[in-house]
Amino acid sequence: MNKLDTALVTSALKEAGFTLTASVKEAEVVLINTCSVREHAEQRVFSHLGHLKHIKKSRPDMVVGVIGCMAQRLGDKLLEHEAVNIVCGPTQIPQIADLLKHAFEKNEKRLAVTEKILQKTTDIQNQTLERFESAYGIEDKQIPSQAYVRAMRGCNNFCAYCIVPYVRGPEVCRPPEAIIEQIKKLASKGVKQVTLLGQTVNSYKYKKGQKTWSLADLLNASSDIEGIEWLRFVTSYPSEEFFDEILQVMADSPKVCNYLHMPAQSGSDKILHAMNRHYSAAWYLELLARARAFVPGIAIAGDFIVGFPGETEDDFQATMDLLIKARYKNAFIFKYSPRPGTTADKRLEDTVPAEVKKKRITELLAAQEKISDELARDFLDKEVKILVEGLSKKSHRNIADSPDNPQLVGRTATDYIVVFNGPMSLAGRFAKVKIIKTSPLTLFGELS
Ligand code: 5AD
Ligand code: SF4
Repeated sequence: MNKLDTALVTSALKEAGFTLTASVKEAEVVLINTCSVREHAEQRVFSHLGHLKHIKKSRPDMVVGVIGCMAQRLGDKLLEHEAVNIVCGPTQIPQIADLLKHAFEKNEKRLAVTEKILQKTTDIQNQTLERFESAYGIEDKQIPSQAYVRAMRGCNNFCAYCIVPYVRGPEVCRPPEAIIEQIKKLASKGVKQVTLLGQTVNSYKYKKGQKTWSLADLLNASSDIEGIEWLRFVTSYPSEEFFDEILQVMADSPKVCNYLHMPAQSGSDKILHAMNRHYSAAWYLELLARARAFVPGIAIAGDFIVGFPGETEDDFQATMDLLIKARYKNAFIFKYSPRPGTTADKRLEDTVPAEVKKKRITELLAAQEKISDELARDFLDKEVKILVEGLSKKSHRNIADSPDNPQLVGRTATDYIVVFNGPMSLAGRFAKVKIIKTSPLTLFGELS
């Protein structure tokens, strides 16, 4: 979601005459796009701002803007920070170019956030966001042939620990024709892979005439677009609604990647209930079994929070049990971080000590690493099709060694990261690679 917002803002500012600089030192404007999901992410923003305050001592004309969730959450408190000129929430990003121009002309601080974030966005706001979004429906610059397209904004779920509904507001689904048009436009510019985005993207629904469009319908319609070869969607909430239809499209359409990111968060029914997640661990595992029956070979990823208030050793063991049974390709595991304003923070005490959270996250990560390693080993000696993203992180070394054959990185349809050597001209294209070595997170291969 944040990568998409960054791409939209970058593209809007280019249109308004700004250019990207290589480093903060050269910049006249610094924008920080922020996430509020965990406290740690916010602390990092404050440390960046501390650094910028220092730079601004010698360059007082530099304009610093904080955009995104933290801007919405902290509003004028953030504006009080010495380094900050502009605070702009997610709903206000269409105003970003104007806010910057104003900051240059008047040298005044500016706040643009939604006052009543829990109310539905107005039609005018939706139209403005829609215009902005479809005008700048834009590629991820690092990966030339890949783009994110928002299917829905916001979230109605109110999981007890989660800040998202308080910073992104209630769920709004974009009209299917706007989404399809945008994908067509991207395809005409050479985009091959589109990822549909939403906090609970599988609950996408839009009533149009007699028909209610679901994510399955969106995937079906997008599959017909020439030039688009891979379609993905994240993130899914464990829910019965549309589940079979979506998995059926995945099974039927060669373009829909066999990958499902569906967080469980916990394996304890008591904790799931306290988290306000509307399912049991057993039922969640049934959903995974069903997904695997529909789409053999589907790769499944999950998220977990350890140390939620009241989580006992037994609850944690239930999570461990679920993780082992789920056999995820990979899992994102976080320590519970109390977020101001959420029901968990207001009503529950953060009872699990930091060292216990640390022990639990370490144990869970180790169990997942073993599973990821086993699943990755199945790829040994096999050929995989990947979409090449570009140079791997270590490529600077390789480029010097072999400029025509640097280390590149790509992903399989099932989201496995594949590292191999090949010509830079493969970036943004599909390639076939034979896997010769594996690790829990990465496959290593040779062009076949
Ligand atoms: N503390 C820790 N992790 C959190 N997540 C969301 N809110 C919190 C929180 N308060 C995690 C969930 C979610 C992922 C995006 O971040 O696992 O799926
Ligand atoms: Fe947060 Fe729950 Fe919504 Fe996901 S579904 S964004 S965890 S409130």
